[in-house]
Amino acid sequence: GTHFNIAVIPGDGIGKEVIPEGLKVLQAAAGKHGISMEFTHFDWSCETYHSTGKMMPDDGLEQLSKFDAIFLGAVGFPGVPDHISLWGLLLPIRRAFNQYVNLRPVRLFEGLQSPLANKQPGDIDFYVVRENVEGEYSAIGGIQYEGTEDEVVSQQSIFTRKGTDRILKYAFELARSRDKKHLSSATKSNGLFHSMPYWDSRVAAMAKDYPDLKVDQFHIDIFTANLVRMPEFYDVIVGSNLFGDILSDLGPACTGTIAIAPSANINPEKTFPSMFEPVHGSAPDIAGQNIANPIGTIWAAAMMMQHLGSQAMHDTIMSAVEAAIRDRLSLTRDMGGTASTQELGQAVTDLILAQ
Ligand code: NAD
Ligand code: IPM
Ligand code: MN
Repeated sequence: GTHFNIAVIPGDGIGKEVIPEGLKVLQAAAGKHGISMEFTHFDWSCETYHSTGKMMPDDGLEQLSKFDAIFLGAVGFPGVPDHISLWGLLLPIRRAFNQYVNLRPVRLFEGLQSPLANKQPGDIDFYVVRENVEGEYSAIGGIQYEGTEDEVVSQQSIFTRKGTDRILKYAFELARSRDKKHLSSATKSNGLFHSMPYWDSRVAAMAKDYPDLKVDQFHIDIFTANLVRMPEFYDVIVGSNLFGDILSDLGPACTGTIAIAPSANINPEKTFPSMFEPVHGSAPDIAGQNIANPIGTIWAAAMMMQHLGSQAMHDTIMSAVEAAIRDRLSLTRDMGGTASTQELGQAVTDLILAQ
């Protein structure tokens, strides 16, 4: 039978609370489909940093490279500066394993209320395709004349031709596979002199090969306004690392809660393991209260199985998620319910076992 080896990094805060629910759901769905799954836990987190001075061991990436996929909760917690914790764990994984596609679906589920007026399921159904390994996310730069009045800080962005073209290609292909065949590119080519006009020029060049698509470009400022004003306009959104990050919190917020949103960090060539996680972070404000919504993690688990080739497991998990939300079974507070993290995870698991 099929067997998968998964590296599990719960991480910090509510990461430790939502990951067990994702694992519970995976085990139930795997059982239904005769798939065996082995989970190897890594306790790498800000606690590791406090005790060792590092977020993960020196050979951490080498250890992870042997797995079929990585399943991650969230990283970062007060006590360790965010740029230290994230550049010590999450960002190196994305970069070392060339997970250059960050695929983040956004969908309004039946049973949830959009904060936008008169939006129905079907009105919000798009993908954010985020460049995930270069762009504005960079550790290149530094401080000069530190401690003086002349102090100056620089922060480089890097846009390579290969890096830009491959993420655009992924987004164009995804748009081609969809009914609306509509691709929207988010840039800021009026304010940023080099990088964003370059990105626009690569979009224009690639659009020539996709005459069947409707392709448009908006500056990120009006893009955010349009997304809130008319989310039904969007189908596939492509953006740089930073803009994709911002749009993938804004989009899910328009569907009722950011906590249902999944994030697939994909190495399309499958040379390296891909990584699956919720879009949200460690939520220190609610950590330890057992009220975190596990749906973003569970949806990420479904995307992991799809990536690993089990569309059936993906569909089993997602129909249970859809049913739980539609029938408003054991929903957490962010979705207007009163249930705990485990109660919602159990409701989804029970639906899978009953399928
Ligand atoms: P956050 O996503 O952790 O929280 C934002 C808000 O959403 C909070 O009010 C939180 O309570 C709520 N929220 C988030 N997830 C929820 C869930 N599952 N159920 C219910 N409510 C939920 O963002 P933040 O506050 O900006 O970041 C907190 C920490 O997490 C920081 O250290 C940040 O760097 C880190 N972070 C990590 C990741 C990641 O590991 N991929 C992603 C985002 C933020
Ligand atoms: C995300 C997070 C990360 C990002 C942070 C924690 C570095 O916000 O996965 O969206 O910006 O990529
Ligand atoms: Mn983010």
